[in-house]
Amino acid sequence: MGVRGLATVRAMAPATLLEVEDLTYSYGDRHAVRGANLQCHRGEILGLLGPNGAGKTTLLSCVAGLLGGFRGTMQFAGAPFRPAHDAAARLQLGLVPQELALYDDLSARENLAFFARMQGVPAERRPAAVRRGLELAGLVDRADDRVRTFSGGMKRRLNLAIGDLHGPELLLLDEPTVGVDPQSRNHLFESLQALRAAGRTLVYTSHYMEEVQRLCDRVAVMHDGRVVAVGTTAELAARAGTPEANLEQVFLTLTGRSLRDDA
Ligand SMILES: Nc1ncnc2c1ncn2[C@@H]1O[C@H](COP(=O)(O)OP(=O)(O)OP(=O)(O)O)[C@@H](O)[C@H]1O
Ligand SMILES: [Mg+2]
Repeated sequence: MGVRGLATVRAMAPATLLEVEDLTYSYGDRHAVRGANLQCHRGEILGLLGPNGAGKTTLLSCVAGLLGGFRGTMQFAGAPFRPAHDAAARLQLGLVPQELALYDDLSARENLAFFARMQGVPAERRPAAVRRGLELAGLVDRADDRVRTFSGGMKRRLNLAIGDLHGPELLLLDEPTVGVDPQSRNHLFESLQALRAAGRTLVYTSHYMEEVQRLCDRVAVMHDGRVVAVGTTAELAARAGTPEANLEQVFLTLTGRSLRDDA
Protein backbone atom coordinates (compact mmCIF):
# COMPACT_ATOMS: atom_id res chain seq x y z
CA MET A 1 0.00 0.00 0.00
CA GLY A 2 1.31 3.47 -0.89
CA VAL A 3 1.58 6.43 1.46
CA ARG A 4 -1.76 7.79 0.22
CA GLY A 5 -3.41 4.45 0.85
CA LEU A 6 -2.07 4.38 4.41
CA ALA A 7 -3.22 7.94 4.98
CA THR A 8 -6.69 6.94 3.81
CA VAL A 9 -6.79 3.97 6.18
CA ARG A 10 -5.77 6.23 9.07
CA ALA A 11 -8.31 8.85 8.12
CA MET A 12 -11.02 6.18 8.03
CA ALA A 13 -10.07 4.63 11.37
CA PRO A 14 -12.49 5.74 14.09
CA ALA A 15 -11.06 8.48 16.33
CA THR A 16 -12.26 6.57 19.38
CA LEU A 17 -10.18 3.45 19.94
CA LEU A 18 -11.88 2.22 23.09
CA GLU A 19 -15.34 3.02 24.31
CA VAL A 20 -16.66 1.76 27.63
CA GLU A 21 -20.36 2.28 28.27
CA ASP A 22 -22.16 1.91 31.54
CA LEU A 23 -19.65 -0.55 32.99
CA THR A 24 -20.72 -2.08 36.27
CA TYR A 25 -18.81 -4.64 38.31
CA SER A 26 -19.28 -5.92 41.85
CA TYR A 27 -17.13 -8.17 44.02
CA GLY A 28 -19.95 -9.95 45.87
CA ASP A 29 -21.97 -7.13 47.37
CA ARG A 30 -19.16 -4.56 47.04
CA HIS A 31 -19.96 -2.32 44.08
CA ALA A 32 -16.55 -1.42 42.66
CA VAL A 33 -17.59 0.11 39.31
CA ARG A 34 -21.05 1.65 39.04
CA GLY A 35 -21.95 2.63 35.50
CA ALA A 36 -18.62 4.02 34.29
CA ASN A 37 -18.32 5.60 30.83
CA LEU A 38 -14.98 6.21 29.17
CA GLN A 39 -13.79 7.06 25.66
CA CYS A 40 -10.17 6.72 24.74
CA HIS A 41 -9.01 8.52 21.61
CA ARG A 42 -6.62 6.91 19.18
CA GLY A 43 -3.04 8.09 19.71
CA GLU A 44 -3.53 9.82 23.06
CA ILE A 45 -2.21 9.25 26.55
CA LEU A 46 -5.31 9.30 28.73
CA GLY A 47 -4.67 9.72 32.44
CA LEU A 48 -6.98 7.78 34.75
CA LEU A 49 -7.09 9.33 38.22
CA GLY A 50 -9.13 8.47 41.27
CA PRO A 51 -8.75 8.05 45.02
CA ASN A 52 -7.89 4.64 46.46
CA GLY A 53 -10.81 2.31 45.89
CA ALA A 54 -12.38 4.45 43.12
CA GLY A 55 -12.48 1.45 40.78
CA LYS A 56 -9.58 2.15 38.40
CA THR A 57 -7.94 -1.30 38.63
CA THR A 58 -11.32 -3.00 38.40
CA LEU A 59 -12.22 -1.04 35.26
CA LEU A 60 -8.87 -1.82 33.61
CA SER A 61 -9.18 -5.49 34.61
CA CYS A 62 -12.60 -5.70 32.93
CA VAL A 63 -11.22 -4.10 29.74
CA ALA A 64 -8.22 -6.45 29.74
CA GLY A 65 -10.44 -9.52 30.10
CA LEU A 66 -9.20 -10.48 33.57
CA LEU A 67 -12.62 -9.99 35.13
CA GLY A 68 -15.72 -11.35 33.44
CA GLY A 69 -19.33 -11.05 34.52
CA PHE A 70 -19.53 -7.26 34.30
CA ARG A 71 -22.50 -5.35 32.98
CA GLY A 72 -22.19 -2.73 30.24
CA THR A 73 -20.71 -2.70 26.75
CA MET A 74 -17.38 -1.98 25.12
CA GLN A 75 -16.27 -1.13 21.61
CA PHE A 76 -12.74 -1.49 20.32
CA ALA A 77 -11.80 0.22 17.05
CA GLY A 78 -15.47 0.73 16.30
CA ALA A 79 -16.53 -2.90 16.77
CA PRO A 80 -18.31 -4.50 19.73
CA PHE A 81 -15.71 -5.94 22.09
CA ARG A 82 -16.24 -8.69 24.67
CA PRO A 83 -12.80 -8.99 26.27
CA ALA A 84 -13.29 -12.43 27.78
CA HIS A 85 -14.38 -13.87 24.40
CA ASP A 86 -12.69 -11.88 21.62
CA ALA A 87 -9.17 -13.30 21.78
CA ALA A 88 -7.97 -11.61 18.58
CA ALA A 89 -9.08 -8.16 19.72
CA ARG A 90 -7.64 -8.81 23.18
CA LEU A 91 -4.21 -9.20 21.55
CA GLN A 92 -4.53 -5.55 20.53
CA LEU A 93 -4.49 -4.71 24.24
CA GLY A 94 -1.69 -4.86 26.78
CA LEU A 95 -1.96 -4.50 30.55
CA VAL A 96 0.80 -3.39 32.90
CA PRO A 97 -0.72 -4.56 36.19
CA GLN A 98 -0.57 -2.67 39.49
CA GLU A 99 0.66 -5.82 41.23
CA LEU A 100 3.99 -6.94 39.78
CA ALA A 101 3.49 -10.09 37.69
CA LEU A 102 7.00 -11.56 37.31
CA TYR A 103 8.72 -14.87 37.95
CA ASP A 104 11.41 -14.21 40.57
CA ASP A 105 13.40 -17.34 39.72
CA LEU A 106 13.65 -16.51 36.03
CA SER A 107 15.99 -13.93 34.51
CA ALA A 108 14.69 -10.76 32.82
CA ARG A 109 15.28 -12.37 29.43
CA GLU A 110 13.50 -15.59 30.45
CA ASN A 111 10.51 -13.66 31.81
CA LEU A 112 10.22 -11.71 28.56
CA ALA A 113 10.54 -14.85 26.44
CA PHE A 114 7.89 -16.65 28.50
CA PHE A 115 5.37 -13.80 28.34
CA ALA A 116 6.07 -13.23 24.63
CA ARG A 117 4.87 -16.79 24.04
CA MET A 118 1.86 -16.32 26.35
CA GLN A 119 0.90 -13.07 24.62
CA GLY A 120 0.84 -14.64 21.18
CA VAL A 121 4.08 -13.24 19.69
CA PRO A 122 4.95 -15.58 16.77
CA ALA A 123 8.10 -17.66 17.43
CA GLU A 124 10.17 -15.96 14.72
CA ARG A 125 9.46 -12.51 16.19
CA ARG A 126 10.17 -13.41 19.82
CA PRO A 127 13.94 -12.75 19.88
CA ALA A 128 13.43 -9.21 18.54
CA ALA A 129 10.52 -8.63 20.95
CA VAL A 130 12.69 -9.77 23.89
CA ARG A 131 15.52 -7.46 22.77
CA ARG A 132 13.13 -4.52 22.51
CA GLY A 133 11.70 -5.38 25.93
CA LEU A 134 15.15 -5.37 27.53
CA GLU A 135 15.84 -1.96 25.97
CA LEU A 136 12.48 -0.56 27.04
CA ALA A 137 13.15 -1.79 30.59
CA GLY A 138 16.73 -0.46 30.53
CA LEU A 139 17.90 -3.95 31.55
CA VAL A 140 20.19 -4.94 28.68
CA ASP A 141 23.13 -5.20 31.12
CA ARG A 142 21.15 -7.30 33.63
CA ALA A 143 19.31 -9.46 31.10
CA ASP A 144 20.53 -12.77 32.49
CA ASP A 145 20.22 -11.98 36.20
CA ARG A 146 17.33 -13.43 38.15
CA VAL A 147 14.48 -11.07 38.91
CA ARG A 148 14.83 -11.77 42.65
CA THR A 149 18.15 -9.86 42.57
CA PHE A 150 16.51 -6.74 41.06
CA SER A 151 15.59 -3.51 42.84
CA GLY A 152 11.93 -2.45 43.02
CA GLY A 153 12.39 0.04 40.19
CA MET A 154 14.02 -2.54 37.93
CA LYS A 155 11.08 -4.90 38.54
CA ARG A 156 8.61 -2.10 37.69
CA ARG A 157 10.45 -1.43 34.42
CA LEU A 158 10.40 -5.11 33.52
CA ASN A 159 6.69 -5.30 34.41
CA LEU A 160 6.06 -2.48 31.93
CA ALA A 161 8.13 -4.05 29.17
CA ILE A 162 6.17 -7.31 29.55
CA GLY A 163 2.83 -5.52 29.08
CA ASP A 164 4.11 -4.03 25.83
CA LEU A 165 5.86 -7.14 24.44
CA HIS A 166 3.32 -7.94 21.74
CA GLY A 167 3.14 -4.30 20.55
CA PRO A 168 -0.54 -3.77 21.45
CA GLU A 169 -2.38 -0.84 19.92
CA LEU A 170 -3.76 0.05 23.36
CA LEU A 171 -1.58 -0.19 26.45
CA LEU A 172 -3.23 0.02 29.89
CA LEU A 173 -0.78 1.07 32.60
CA ASP A 174 -1.91 0.68 36.21
CA GLU A 175 0.40 2.75 38.44
CA PRO A 176 3.60 1.89 36.54
CA THR A 177 5.83 4.30 38.48
CA VAL A 178 5.12 3.32 42.09
CA GLY A 179 8.40 3.26 43.98
CA VAL A 180 10.68 4.11 41.08
CA ASP A 181 13.43 6.72 41.33
CA PRO A 182 13.50 9.89 39.18
CA GLN A 183 15.96 8.29 36.73
CA SER A 184 13.71 5.27 36.15
CA ARG A 185 10.67 7.52 35.98
CA ASN A 186 12.30 9.66 33.30
CA HIS A 187 13.28 6.53 31.40
CA LEU A 188 9.66 5.36 31.58
CA PHE A 189 8.30 8.74 30.47
CA GLU A 190 10.59 8.81 27.48
CA SER A 191 9.55 5.27 26.59
CA LEU A 192 5.85 6.13 26.86
CA GLN A 193 6.27 9.31 24.83
CA ALA A 194 8.09 7.27 22.17
CA LEU A 195 5.16 4.81 22.10
CA ARG A 196 2.72 7.68 21.63
CA ALA A 197 4.92 9.17 18.89
CA ALA A 198 4.74 5.77 17.16
CA GLY A 199 0.94 6.11 17.11
CA ARG A 200 0.06 3.91 20.08
CA THR A 201 -2.67 4.70 22.60
CA LEU A 202 -2.11 4.61 26.35
CA VAL A 203 -4.30 4.71 29.45
CA TYR A 204 -2.20 5.76 32.40
CA THR A 205 -3.23 5.40 36.04
CA SER A 206 -1.23 7.21 38.69
CA HIS A 207 -1.56 9.09 41.96
CA TYR A 208 1.26 11.46 40.99
CA MET A 209 -0.50 14.56 39.72
CA GLU A 210 2.51 16.39 38.25
CA GLU A 211 3.39 13.21 36.38
CA VAL A 212 -0.09 12.97 34.87
CA GLN A 213 -0.20 16.66 34.07
CA ARG A 214 3.16 16.39 32.30
CA LEU A 215 2.52 13.19 30.38
CA CYS A 216 -1.18 12.92 29.57
CA ASP A 217 -3.16 14.59 26.79
CA ARG A 218 -6.46 14.25 28.67
CA VAL A 219 -7.44 13.10 32.13
CA ALA A 220 -10.42 11.06 33.33
CA VAL A 221 -11.30 11.25 37.01
CA MET A 222 -12.99 8.30 38.72
CA HIS A 223 -14.88 8.64 41.96
CA ASP A 224 -16.97 5.97 43.70
CA GLY A 225 -17.00 3.69 40.66
CA ARG A 226 -17.91 6.33 38.08
CA VAL A 227 -16.00 8.56 35.70
CA VAL A 228 -17.02 12.00 36.95
CA ALA A 229 -14.97 14.24 34.62
CA VAL A 230 -12.89 13.96 31.44
CA GLY A 231 -10.84 16.60 29.65
CA THR A 232 -7.53 18.42 29.55
CA THR A 233 -6.33 19.85 32.86
CA ALA A 234 -7.30 23.33 31.64
CA GLU A 235 -10.81 22.15 30.66
CA LEU A 236 -11.35 20.42 34.00
CA ALA A 237 -10.12 23.47 35.90
CA ALA A 238 -12.40 25.78 33.91
CA ARG A 239 -15.37 23.47 34.44
CA ALA A 240 -14.68 23.35 38.18
CA GLY A 241 -14.89 27.17 38.18
CA THR A 242 -11.17 27.51 39.09
CA PRO A 243 -9.38 28.19 35.79
CA GLU A 244 -6.05 28.86 37.51
CA ALA A 245 -6.06 25.59 39.50
CA ASN A 246 -3.54 22.80 38.93
CA LEU A 247 -4.57 19.17 38.48
CA GLU A 248 -4.22 18.30 42.17
CA GLN A 249 -6.54 21.13 43.21
CA VAL A 250 -9.08 20.13 40.55
CA PHE A 251 -8.83 16.50 41.65
CA LEU A 252 -9.55 17.40 45.29
CA THR A 253 -12.48 19.57 44.22
CA LEU A 254 -13.96 16.68 42.20
CA THR A 255 -13.33 13.86 44.67
CA GLY A 256 -13.37 15.52 48.10
CA ARG A 257 -10.75 15.52 50.83
CA SER A 258 -11.85 12.61 53.00
CA LEU A 259 -10.10 9.21 52.83
CA ARG A 260 -11.93 7.04 50.34
CA ASP A 261 -10.35 3.61 50.54
CA ASP A 262 -13.02 2.22 52.89
CA ALA A 263 -15.93 3.72 50.97
N1 LIG B 1 -10.49 -8.84 44.74
C1 LIG B 1 -11.35 -8.03 45.37
N2 LIG B 1 -12.29 -8.53 46.20
C2 LIG B 1 -13.18 -7.73 46.83
N3 LIG B 1 -13.21 -6.39 46.70
C3 LIG B 1 -12.29 -5.83 45.89
C4 LIG B 1 -11.31 -6.62 45.20
N4 LIG B 1 -10.52 -5.78 44.46
C5 LIG B 1 -11.00 -4.54 44.72
N5 LIG B 1 -12.05 -4.57 45.56
C6 LIG B 1 -12.84 -3.41 46.02
O1 LIG B 1 -13.33 -2.73 44.86
C7 LIG B 1 -13.25 -1.32 45.02
C8 LIG B 1 -12.42 -0.75 43.88
O2 LIG B 1 -11.08 -1.24 44.00
P1 LIG B 1 -9.97 -0.97 42.88
O3 LIG B 1 -8.80 -1.81 43.23
O4 LIG B 1 -10.59 -1.15 41.54
O5 LIG B 1 -9.68 0.58 43.12
P2 LIG B 1 -8.50 1.50 42.60
O6 LIG B 1 -9.14 2.75 42.11
O7 LIG B 1 -7.64 0.74 41.66
O8 LIG B 1 -7.71 1.84 43.94
P3 LIG B 1 -6.11 2.06 44.22
O9 LIG B 1 -5.86 3.50 43.84
O10 LIG B 1 -6.01 1.88 45.71
O11 LIG B 1 -5.33 1.08 43.42
C9 LIG B 1 -12.69 -1.09 46.42
O12 LIG B 1 -13.77 -0.86 47.29
C10 LIG B 1 -11.99 -2.39 46.76
O13 LIG B 1 -12.04 -2.62 48.16
MG1 LIG C 1 -5.70 0.20 41.66
